[in-house]
Amino acid sequence: MKEIDENEIQLDSNRYLVSETDAKGVITYCNDYFTEISGYTREELIGKQHNIIRHPDMPRVVFKLLWERISQGKNINAVVKNLAKNGKYYWVFTEFQTRIDLDTNTVIGYTAHRKLISDDVSNTIENIYKQVLYVEQQKGMEKAQEFLEALLKEKGRDINFVNLMDNIYKFY
Ligand SMILES: Cc1cc2nc3c(=O)[nH]c(=O)nc-3n(C[C@H](O)[C@H](O)[C@H](O)COP(=O)(O)O)c2cc1C
Repeated sequence: MKEIDENEIQLDSNRYLVSETDAKGVITYCNDYFTEISGYTREELIGKQHNIIRHPDMPRVVFKLLWERISQGKNINAVVKNLAKNGKYYWVFTEFQTRIDLDTNTVIGYTAHRKLISDDVSNTIENIYKQVLYVEQQKGMEKAQEFLEALLKEKGRDINFVNLMDNIYKFY
Protein backbone atom coordinates (compact mmCIF):
# COMPACT_ATOMS: atom_id res chain seq x y z
CA MET A 1 0.00 0.00 0.00
CA LYS A 2 1.39 3.38 -1.02
CA GLU A 3 1.38 6.08 1.62
CA ILE A 4 -0.90 9.01 0.91
CA ASP A 5 1.19 11.96 -0.22
CA GLU A 6 -0.64 15.21 0.36
CA ASN A 7 1.34 16.82 -2.45
CA GLU A 8 0.00 14.38 -5.02
CA ILE A 9 -3.16 15.37 -6.85
CA GLN A 10 -5.64 12.49 -7.08
CA LEU A 11 -6.96 12.21 -10.63
CA ASP A 12 -10.36 11.01 -11.77
CA SER A 13 -9.89 7.76 -13.71
CA ASN A 14 -12.78 8.64 -16.02
CA ARG A 15 -11.41 11.94 -17.26
CA TYR A 16 -8.67 12.80 -19.73
CA LEU A 17 -6.44 15.85 -19.54
CA VAL A 18 -6.11 17.10 -23.10
CA SER A 19 -3.91 19.80 -24.57
CA GLU A 20 -2.79 20.85 -28.01
CA THR A 21 0.21 22.85 -29.15
CA ASP A 22 1.42 24.40 -32.36
CA ALA A 23 4.51 22.98 -34.08
CA LYS A 24 6.78 24.75 -31.58
CA GLY A 25 5.14 23.39 -28.43
CA VAL A 26 3.16 26.52 -27.62
CA ILE A 27 -0.19 25.65 -26.04
CA THR A 28 -3.14 26.40 -28.32
CA TYR A 29 -5.91 24.42 -26.57
CA CYS A 30 -6.61 22.68 -23.27
CA ASN A 31 -9.75 21.00 -22.03
CA ASP A 32 -11.51 21.84 -18.77
CA TYR A 33 -9.97 18.98 -16.81
CA PHE A 34 -6.46 20.01 -17.89
CA THR A 35 -6.97 23.57 -16.63
CA GLU A 36 -8.67 22.36 -13.45
CA ILE A 37 -5.79 20.04 -12.48
CA SER A 38 -3.00 22.39 -13.59
CA GLY A 39 -4.47 25.18 -11.48
CA TYR A 40 -3.92 27.71 -14.23
CA THR A 41 -6.65 29.57 -16.05
CA ARG A 42 -7.01 29.01 -19.77
CA GLU A 43 -5.73 32.56 -20.31
CA GLU A 44 -2.57 31.71 -18.39
CA LEU A 45 -1.98 28.56 -20.45
CA ILE A 46 -2.80 29.51 -24.03
CA GLY A 47 0.22 31.00 -25.76
CA LYS A 48 2.71 29.56 -23.24
CA GLN A 49 5.34 26.89 -23.85
CA HIS A 50 4.19 23.51 -22.60
CA ASN A 51 7.06 23.35 -20.13
CA ILE A 52 4.92 25.59 -17.90
CA ILE A 53 3.86 22.36 -16.14
CA ARG A 54 7.23 20.62 -16.30
CA HIS A 55 8.19 18.98 -13.01
CA PRO A 56 11.89 19.26 -12.03
CA ASP A 57 11.92 15.51 -11.26
CA MET A 58 11.46 14.76 -14.97
CA PRO A 59 14.69 13.88 -16.81
CA ARG A 60 15.28 16.08 -19.86
CA VAL A 61 16.16 13.05 -21.92
CA VAL A 62 12.53 11.90 -21.81
CA PHE A 63 11.48 15.10 -23.55
CA LYS A 64 14.35 14.77 -25.99
CA LEU A 65 13.08 11.32 -26.99
CA LEU A 66 9.56 12.71 -27.16
CA TRP A 67 10.45 15.59 -29.48
CA GLU A 68 12.61 13.37 -31.70
CA ARG A 69 9.61 11.14 -32.30
CA ILE A 70 6.78 13.61 -32.67
CA SER A 71 8.71 15.99 -34.90
CA GLN A 72 9.09 13.06 -37.32
CA GLY A 73 5.34 12.50 -37.22
CA LYS A 74 5.63 9.37 -35.10
CA ASN A 75 3.36 8.99 -32.11
CA ILE A 76 4.74 8.19 -28.68
CA ASN A 77 3.42 7.42 -25.22
CA ALA A 78 5.16 8.55 -22.06
CA VAL A 79 4.64 8.44 -18.33
CA VAL A 80 5.04 12.01 -17.12
CA LYS A 81 5.11 13.70 -13.73
CA ASN A 82 3.61 17.17 -13.99
CA LEU A 83 3.67 20.19 -11.72
CA ALA A 84 0.52 22.13 -10.88
CA LYS A 85 0.50 25.86 -10.17
CA ASN A 86 0.08 25.23 -6.44
CA GLY A 87 3.28 23.12 -6.35
CA LYS A 88 1.47 19.77 -6.22
CA TYR A 89 2.17 17.02 -8.72
CA TYR A 90 0.36 14.30 -10.65
CA TRP A 91 1.50 11.30 -12.69
CA VAL A 92 -0.11 10.63 -16.05
CA PHE A 93 0.14 8.27 -18.96
CA THR A 94 0.31 10.52 -22.00
CA GLU A 95 -0.38 9.71 -25.64
CA PHE A 96 1.29 12.24 -27.93
CA GLN A 97 0.11 12.59 -31.50
CA THR A 98 1.39 14.69 -34.35
CA ARG A 99 -1.12 16.59 -36.47
CA ILE A 100 0.06 16.78 -40.06
CA ASP A 101 -1.19 18.86 -42.95
CA LEU A 102 -1.51 16.20 -45.62
CA ASP A 103 -1.47 18.69 -48.48
CA THR A 104 1.91 20.14 -47.58
CA ASN A 105 3.15 17.22 -45.47
CA THR A 106 4.14 19.57 -42.67
CA VAL A 107 3.53 19.43 -38.95
CA ILE A 108 0.60 21.61 -37.86
CA GLY A 109 0.93 20.82 -34.20
CA TYR A 110 0.70 18.17 -31.51
CA THR A 111 -2.01 16.76 -29.25
CA ALA A 112 -1.63 15.07 -25.88
CA HIS A 113 -4.21 12.91 -24.09
CA ARG A 114 -3.38 12.13 -20.47
CA LYS A 115 -4.94 9.72 -18.07
CA LEU A 116 -4.44 8.33 -14.61
CA ILE A 117 -1.94 5.51 -14.14
CA SER A 118 -1.77 2.97 -11.36
CA ASP A 119 0.54 3.50 -8.39
CA ASP A 120 2.49 0.40 -9.42
CA VAL A 121 3.40 1.97 -12.76
CA SER A 122 4.20 5.41 -11.37
CA ASN A 123 6.37 3.90 -8.62
CA THR A 124 8.34 1.82 -11.11
CA ILE A 125 8.80 4.66 -13.55
CA GLU A 126 9.63 7.09 -10.76
CA ASN A 127 12.42 4.76 -9.73
CA ILE A 128 13.80 4.65 -13.29
CA TYR A 129 13.49 8.41 -13.79
CA LYS A 130 15.28 9.12 -10.49
CA GLN A 131 18.29 7.12 -11.62
CA VAL A 132 18.25 8.68 -15.08
CA LEU A 133 17.96 12.19 -13.64
CA TYR A 134 20.90 11.53 -11.35
CA VAL A 135 23.10 10.49 -14.29
CA GLU A 136 21.84 13.46 -16.30
CA GLN A 137 22.76 15.92 -13.54
CA GLN A 138 26.18 14.36 -13.05
CA LYS A 139 27.17 13.59 -16.63
CA GLY A 140 24.75 15.19 -19.04
CA MET A 141 21.92 14.12 -21.30
CA GLU A 142 23.86 11.89 -23.67
CA LYS A 143 25.12 9.72 -20.81
CA ALA A 144 21.62 9.71 -19.32
CA GLN A 145 20.24 8.32 -22.57
CA GLU A 146 22.91 5.61 -22.66
CA PHE A 147 22.14 4.80 -19.04
CA LEU A 148 18.40 4.55 -19.73
CA GLU A 149 18.99 2.26 -22.71
CA ALA A 150 21.35 0.06 -20.69
CA LEU A 151 18.94 -0.05 -17.77
CA LEU A 152 16.09 -1.26 -19.97
CA LYS A 153 18.29 -3.83 -21.71
CA GLU A 154 19.45 -5.09 -18.34
CA LYS A 155 15.88 -6.07 -17.64
CA GLY A 156 16.43 -8.74 -20.25
CA ARG A 157 13.47 -7.80 -22.35
CA ASP A 158 15.27 -6.06 -25.18
CA ILE A 159 13.09 -3.02 -24.86
CA ASN A 160 13.68 0.63 -25.56
CA PHE A 161 11.86 3.61 -24.11
CA VAL A 162 9.23 3.68 -26.86
CA ASN A 163 8.15 0.07 -26.54
CA LEU A 164 8.42 0.16 -22.77
CA MET A 165 5.84 2.93 -22.79
CA ASP A 166 3.71 1.20 -25.43
CA ASN A 167 3.51 -1.91 -23.28
CA ILE A 168 3.60 -0.40 -19.86
CA TYR A 169 0.84 -2.58 -18.44
CA LYS A 170 2.41 -5.71 -19.88
CA PHE A 171 5.76 -5.00 -18.26
CA TYR A 172 4.54 -3.69 -14.91
C1 LIG B 1 1.37 18.25 -27.15
C2 LIG B 1 2.46 18.37 -26.13
C3 LIG B 1 2.18 18.13 -24.80
C4 LIG B 1 3.16 18.21 -23.83
N1 LIG B 1 2.82 17.96 -22.54
C5 LIG B 1 3.75 18.09 -21.58
C6 LIG B 1 3.41 17.85 -20.23
O1 LIG B 1 2.30 17.46 -19.89
N2 LIG B 1 4.39 18.03 -19.30
C7 LIG B 1 5.65 18.42 -19.62
O2 LIG B 1 6.47 18.58 -18.72
N3 LIG B 1 6.01 18.61 -20.92
C8 LIG B 1 5.09 18.45 -21.89
N4 LIG B 1 5.45 18.64 -23.20
C9 LIG B 1 6.87 18.87 -23.51
C10 LIG B 1 7.31 20.31 -23.42
O3 LIG B 1 7.09 20.92 -24.66
C11 LIG B 1 8.81 20.43 -23.05
O4 LIG B 1 9.60 19.79 -24.04
C12 LIG B 1 9.14 19.81 -21.69
O5 LIG B 1 8.30 20.32 -20.69
C13 LIG B 1 10.60 20.04 -21.28
O6 LIG B 1 10.86 21.37 -21.13
P1 LIG B 1 12.16 22.01 -21.76
O7 LIG B 1 12.04 21.76 -23.24
O8 LIG B 1 12.11 23.45 -21.39
O9 LIG B 1 13.31 21.29 -21.13
C14 LIG B 1 4.49 18.55 -24.19
C15 LIG B 1 4.79 18.80 -25.53
C16 LIG B 1 3.80 18.70 -26.49
C17 LIG B 1 4.13 18.95 -27.93
